[in-house]
Amino acid sequence: MNKFLFIIRYFKGTSNLSAKGNFFVIITISLLSTVLISVQPVIMAKLISGIESESVDFKFIIYALALSYIVVMSLRKLASALNFILITSLRSNLVISMTNDYFKSLFHNAGAIKIHENTGDITQRLNQAIDELTVLLRNISHNFIPPLLQLVLSVAFIVISGDYIVAMLFTLYFLLYFIIKGVFNPKIVGLYNDFYNTSVKKYSLITDSVKNMGAAKVCNSYDYLFGRYEALLHKIETKHEKLLKADMHFLLVESACNIIFFGLSFLYSLYQVMSGNISIGHFVMISSYILLLSSPLESMGSMYTALQKSTVSLYGFISAMTMIVARQVDSEQIKPVDSMKMRDLSFSYQGEGGAIIKGLNLEIDKGHFITLTGRSGSGKSTVAKLLAGELKPEQGEILINNMNINELSSVQRAELVFHVSQNDYIFMDTLRFNLKIACPEATDEQLAVALRLSRLDDLVNDGNAGLLDMRIGDNGVTLSGGQRQRLSLARLFLRTPSIIILDEVTSALDVINERGIMHNIKICFPNALILNISHRSSTFDFSDEILVMDSGRIVASGDFVTLKNNNTYIQSILRQEALKQAS
Ligand SMILES: Nc1ncnc2c1ncn2[C@@H]1O[C@H](COP(=O)(O)OP(=O)(O)OP(=O)(O)O)[C@@H](O)[C@H]1O
Ligand SMILES: [Mg+2]
Repeated sequence: MNKFLFIIRYFKGTSNLSAKGNFFVIITISLLSTVLISVQPVIMAKLISGIESESVDFKFIIYALALSYIVVMSLRKLASALNFILITSLRSNLVISMTNDYFKSLFHNAGAIKIHENTGDITQRLNQAIDELTVLLRNISHNFIPPLLQLVLSVAFIVISGDYIVAMLFTLYFLLYFIIKGVFNPKIVGLYNDFYNTSVKKYSLITDSVKNMGAAKVCNSYDYLFGRYEALLHKIETKHEKLLKADMHFLLVESACNIIFFGLSFLYSLYQVMSGNISIGHFVMISSYILLLSSPLESMGSMYTALQKSTVSLYGFISAMTMIVARQVDSEQIKPVDSMKMRDLSFSYQGEGGAIIKGLNLEIDKGHFITLTGRSGSGKSTVAKLLAGELKPEQGEILINNMNINELSSVQRAELVFHVSQNDYIFMDTLRFNLKIACPEATDEQLAVALRLSRLDDLVNDGNAGLLDMRIGDNGVTLSGGQRQRLSLARLFLRTPSIIILDEVTSALDVINERGIMHNIKICFPNALILNISHRSSTFDFSDEILVMDSGRIVASGDFVTLKNNNTYIQSILRQEALKQAS
C-alpha cells in the first residue's frame, strides 16, 4: 500500500493541472458507472415485485425493465468509451513526465547507468515502466477497483433487503478471497520480479549481439553468437513457466471458492423462493448479483496480482530515478579562470582493485597548454574525467580559482569546462543536430564557422540537401574515424570554455589536419587552460609543458626539448614514429 501511495504521490507531484483533472474525471466516471451497475438488480427486483403484487400495469413494468436495461447498458458503454479516451490521454501525459525524469536522472547522475548495462537495458527499463503504468491505470479505473466496489455495494444492498444469509455468504467469499490472495501473492510477485529481471537482459543481449555482429561474421560463428541469446531465452521460459504454474494454482483455489460460495447463495435463494419465503423479485436480484459479480471477481484475482506486480515494479523504477535537478544558477560567475590545481589526488574505480590515480599534483595556469602523455592504462583519461567533474576524487581536491570543483553546480561546470573525450558521442541525426547540441541557439553561419575551424568543411553530402542537413548514421558509422573526431571538435568551437580537455581527439587525423586544428584552438581560446592528452609527438611542440604519467603518477615533466633528451618514454615514442615513417 505504501508503494502504491508513493507512486500516486510521485505522479501527483509531476503532473500538471489538466492531468490531475483528467484522473479525477476517470475515477468519478468509473465509480458512477459501478454504482449504476450495482443498482440495476435492485431496480429489477422492485419492478418484478410490482408484477407479483399486480399493483402496477404489467406492460408498464416490461417497458420500464427494458428501458432500465437499455439506459444502464448504454451509460456503461458510454462510460467505458469515455474512460478509454481519457486514460489514453492521461497515460501520454504521465509517460512524457516520467520519461523526462528518467532522462534527467541519466543526464545528471553519472552512476545511473551501471557499468554492465547497455542501451538495451536502459530502453527496456523505461518500456517496462510505461507498460506497468498502463496496467496500473487500467486496474484503478477498470479491472480491479470497480469490481471490488461492486462487491461491497452488492453486500450493502443485500443487507438492506434483509437477506442476511446471502450477505454473509458474499462477505465470507470476500474475506476468503483475500486470505487466499495473501497466501499465494508473495510467491507470485517474487516469481514475477525474477522473471522480469531476467527478461530485461534479453534486450541488452540483442543490442550487444547486433552491435558486435561483425565479430561473429568475420569468424563465421553465427551459431555461437545466437547460442548465447538462445540460452537466455530458455532461462526466461523456465521462469515464465514457474510463474504461470503459481498463477494457475491460485486460479484453481480461487475458482473453487467462487463456485462454492456463489453456488450456495444461488441454491439457498432458490430454496427460499420455492418455499415462498422470498419474492421472485428478490430471487432475481440475488441471481443478478451472482451473474454480475462472478466473472469480474474471477478476473479480479489476476488483476490484483497484476496491480501488485506493477506497483512493486513501478515503485522500483521511480525510486531509482534519483532526481538531481540542475540548480538554476548562475548567481556567482566563476569566469575567467586563472588557475586549476589538483592536490594530492587519489582515485579508484568502485570495486575495481587498487588506486588508479595515486597522490597526483598538477597545476595549470590560464593561457597554458599542457600535454599529458604516458603508456596506455596509466590513468590519463581518468585524470581528464576527474577534472571534468565526471568522477569524484577519493582523496585530495581539485581547485578552480581556489574554489573546490565539488562546489560547482553541473550547470556552472558545463559553462567552464569542455571535455572532448575519447568517446565521440555522435547522434543518429543530422549534422546540424549533432552540432547544435553544443549550442542550441547557434545560427547556420556559426555552425559553418565551427566546421571550418575543426576542418570538417570538406565533408560532402551525397544527397541534394545542404551539408548541415546531412544525416549521420548510428554511432557515426557513415563517418570516418577522423571525421568523427573533427565533429566532436567542431562542438568545442561553438562553446566558450575556460578549461579545455582534449583526450586523444586527433589520434585518427593526419598531421596536417591535427596541427591545423590545434593551432585554431590556441588562437580561438587564448586565455583558456588546456589539458591535451596525446601519444603523438606532433602536438608536443604546441605544449608549454609535457607531463609523463605512469601507473597513476606523474613521473616526469618539462618542455619537449628537455624530455626528448632525458625521458625514456618520450624517446620511445619518437623512435617508433621514426620507424613508422621510414617504413
Ligand atoms: N569505468 C571504469 N571502470 C573500471 N576501471 C576502469 C574504468 N575506466 C578505466 N578503468 C581502468 O583504469 C585504468 C586507467 O584507465 P584510463 O582510461 O585512465 O587510462 P589511459 O591512460 O587513458 O589509457 P589509454 O591511453 O589507453 O587511453 C585502466 O587500468 C582501466 O582498465
Ligand atoms: Mg585514455
